[in-house]
Amino acid sequence: MRGVLAVSAGLAAMVVSACSKPEAPAGPPHVVAASDIEAGRYLAMIGSCNDCHTPGYPQSGGKTPETDRLVGNPVGYHGPWGTSYASNLRILAQSTTEDGWVELLKTKRLLPPMPTQNIAKMTETDLRNLYRYIHSLGAAGQAEPENLPPGVTPSGPYENMSVVAPKT
Ligand code: HEC
Repeated sequence: MRGVLAVSAGLAAMVVSACSKPEAPAGPPHVVAASDIEAGRYLAMIGSCNDCHTPGYPQSGGKTPETDRLVGNPVGYHGPWGTSYASNLRILAQSTTEDGWVELLKTKRLLPPMPTQNIAKMTETDLRNLYRYIHSLGAAGQAEPENLPPGVTPSGPYENMSVVAPKT
């Protein structure tokens, strides 16, 4: 009888340990991966950074090779704020420190359509891992064109993001 009890207690312990969740990492939510750079690669992908900062990325269905990503975009975003150009993050990551990168994304007011309203809420660990990933890719490409003030029509390519009211 004692043997049967011991076996069933052992089984119960196995069932409990199989169902219990792994220990959650300490602190605010953040991505955990095999390395900081892997976490950053994942964050850049799911954070949609390539959609704007990599030329032709959405149009190619995300097929742009990694070596050509995040080099900034010569196609402007034209709206009531003027025309903004998604920055060359490959050059920026080489010319800015990791602390400078975190500070910039947490505090700088950036023009639309840069989703600062979401990205500034990333936890510091995620922002640091994003930097480490982009920094690891090295510099590539050219500086993006200068932003233009409202009311100026760009001479180069742009997407018109002005809200046009439907005709009645
Ligand atoms: C919907 C388009 C869009 C997405 C998505 C986007 N960005 Fe941007 N980003 C921009 C634009 C446009 C600018 C330029 C804003 C300006 O000049 O004020 C910019 C500016 C920046 C800057 C500032 C560069 C500087 O020199 O001041 C950083 C850093 C940046 N983006 C990082 C990111 C990261 C990291 C992601 C993904 C997590 C991301 N962006 C996603 C459009 C986007």
